[in-house]
Amino acid sequence: MSELPLVPEAQPAWAAEVLPPGWRVETLSEHHLDEVLEIERASFSNPWSRDMFLWELQNVGISYGYVLREPGGRVAAFCTAWIVHDELHLNNVAVGPAHRGKGAGQALLRFVLRLAAGLGAQRATLEVRRSNLPALRLYGRLGFRTVGVRKNYYSSPVEDALILWCDRLAEVVKLRPDSA
Ligand SMILES: CC(C)(COP(=O)(O)OP(=O)(O)OC[C@H]1O[C@@H](n2cnc3c(N)ncnc32)[C@H](O)[C@@H]1OP(=O)(O)O)[C@@H](O)C(=O)NCCC(=O)NCCS
Repeated sequence: MSELPLVPEAQPAWAAEVLPPGWRVETLSEHHLDEVLEIERASFSNPWSRDMFLWELQNVGISYGYVLREPGGRVAAFCTAWIVHDELHLNNVAVGPAHRGKGAGQALLRFVLRLAAGLGAQRATLEVRRSNLPALRLYGRLGFRTVGVRKNYYSSPVEDALILWCDRLAEVVKLRPDSA
C-alpha cells in the first residue's frame, strides 16, 4: 500500500463522521512535541523520550503520527503507528488526563483507521497491558480481538502484553461511532 498522507489543513470530507464538532486531526510534527510529551508522561510509567518521538518523525514512509486538537486549541490526544505491508501497527496511543472518558481516544483511532483503510490497510494490530481496561474496552469497540500474549513484556510494573488484531478494518471504518 502507499504511504499514509499528511492530513491537510482542510480535514477530509468524512472527518465530521468521526470527530466531534470543532475537533481536528493534524499530522504529528516537532512543534507538537511539548504537548505530546506532557500527555505521554502523564500516561505511561516508561514514557517515550523526545528523542524517541524525533526518531519516529524521521522514519519517513514507515512511521506516522497524528494529534487530535480540541476546539480550545490544546492537543488532547495523539497516536503513532507504523505501516508494514498492508498492516497498521499502532505503537503509542494516549489521551490527556483531562480529556479521557469523553470519546477522544475513539475519535482519533477511528480517524487513523479510516485513513489507513482508505489507502489499502487490511488489518491493524497493537499491544496493551493486560490490566488496561479502558484501552481494552476502547479497542474492543473498534473490532480488535486478543490473539496472543507476550509474557512479562512490560516493566514498571512487570505485566503481560495482550496482542490484539483487528482483521476487518474496512467494516470497522464504515460503522458509525455509536453503532460499534
Ligand atoms: C486508553 C485511552 C487511550 C482511552 O481513551 P479515552 O479517550 O479515555 O477513551 P474513550 O472516551 O474514547 O472511550 C472508549 C471506551 O473506553 C471506555 N473507557 C474510557 N475510560 C474508561 C475507564 N477509566 N474505565 C473503563 N472504561 C473506560 C469508555 O467507556 C468507552 O467504552 P464504551 O464506548 O463502550 O463506553 C486513555 O484512557 C489513555 O490515554 N490512557 C492512558 C494511556 C494508555 O493506556 N494508552 C493505551 C496504551 S495501549
